[in-house]
Amino acid sequence: MDQNIRNLISAHGAHVLGIETSCDDTGVAILRQDGQILSNCVNSQLRQHLSHGGIIPMVAKEYHVNNIDRVAKEAFEKSKLESVAKNISAIAVTNRPGLDYSLQVGVNYAKHLAKKYSKPLIPIHHMQAHALMPLLENRSIRFPFLALLISGGHSLLAICERYNKFHLIGQSQDDAPGELLDKVARRTRLRNLGPPFDRISGGAAIELLAKRETANRFKYFINERTIPMMRVKTCNMSFAGYRGNLDKIMPTIDELWLRGNREKLLDELGHLCGSLQRAILAQVFRKLYRALMYYRMHWRYNNPQAFQTTSDDHLGFGIMKFEDSEDWLDIVVSGGVAANGYLLDKIRECCATDIESSKPVNVYAPSKSLCSDNGLMIAWNGMMRYMDHAQTNICDKDKGSLQSRKDLNETVICNSDEMGRVNSLPVCSIGLDLIKIVEKADFKLPKSYNKELKLMS
Ligand code: KG4
Ligand code: ZN
Repeated sequence: MDQNIRNLISAHGAHVLGIETSCDDTGVAILRQDGQILSNCVNSQLRQHLSHGGIIPMVAKEYHVNNIDRVAKEAFEKSKLESVAKNISAIAVTNRPGLDYSLQVGVNYAKHLAKKYSKPLIPIHHMQAHALMPLLENRSIRFPFLALLISGGHSLLAICERYNKFHLIGQSQDDAPGELLDKVARRTRLRNLGPPFDRISGGAAIELLAKRETANRFKYFINERTIPMMRVKTCNMSFAGYRGNLDKIMPTIDELWLRGNREKLLDELGHLCGSLQRAILAQVFRKLYRALMYYRMHWRYNNPQAFQTTSDDHLGFGIMKFEDSEDWLDIVVSGGVAANGYLLDKIRECCATDIESSKPVNVYAPSKSLCSDNGLMIAWNGMMRYMDHAQTNICDKDKGSLQSRKDLNETVICNSDEMGRVNSLPVCSIGLDLIKIVEKADFKLPKSYNKELKLMS
């Protein structure tokens, strides 16, 4: 093990501090090597952005600037550690992708801490961190797994071969599902319904209202013709089109708001929200199924290296690989929208009852509070990289040479000159882009596949 890093791992194991500021949550957490969460503090800007009618990047930045030091101090105090200098082994920070102004606040703060206390800096990819989050709570998830990441800023399908090796197989061409939910919530003025709707996200408000739906009345969000990307033979998605369907019901909703008939309004909104959730599910599940088929019919044969070692536990976390490329597969669903109990239950249900019946598929998600942005997922991803580097003797302090920015993003940086070269990257793919290869594979879903129709009924 590298001596510099060995020195930073105390008797209780390494402690990684994780910082997240890629969008509108200021998150700082401290994680111990054995998986013990010492603290996980988040300052959400949700209420402020609800009153502005959406996230304004410069406003989000101001809130991060005003809160990051307080949240970091709170996280450190909660951890009951003695001092940053003595106990923290490394500082991990989201530097990609996200809102540039927001990312910069976290990156600058992390650099400042790393330099001040002479700690290694670990730049983290936000979406990779979402995908790895469930592995902290559940070590029985095995590599390679299929990740469905649905949040306010992204919608993507990827195969995670290793903690640091992802293959992108599909993504949204326009809005992310969380973005759609937030826009619909805004247009229907859900926050004006009062508590709790004035303090929860658009997605959470829509999930809550959808529970009132007594019968599947509104089918116009989903029918054979209106499911976007249905006939496209990729795993790409599109959610912006659903907003057009709102036009049909908005006059009714507007009138109910005017008349002030709350019960009737809640009923109507309930049907609308239920219908919207089904519409999102129909598309997401179809693309997930397609991704699964791509994995089974192509990827596992073309990537034998992913199965070559029977144990991938050299990181010491008890996370294993599948031993062969047989039909085993785990699915991870993560990101803010994965907090939606309806979507998650239905995805689990669909995977359990069909998917070529005899072939095992387990669906995992983080616990609800860890689906949305937090510092813990950054600390956890940072911990994996830290232990990997500690055990494979790579610490660039000793290499003496400046590395390319891409390399810097994938390493543990001990050299302060190189820390200076770590920047925010607002756009950054989760990994190797296989979307064109998926398209070329040109396969059809089986004729018997009619999940959307079942979901509509
Ligand atoms: O991952 P996240 O915290 O931030 C991004 O990286 O985008 O996701 C935030 C998104 C928001 O659009 C929010 O409306 C949505 O997650 N969300 C939900 C639920 N809770 C949060 N969507 C559906 N159902 C929920 N219960
Ligand atoms: Zn996120």
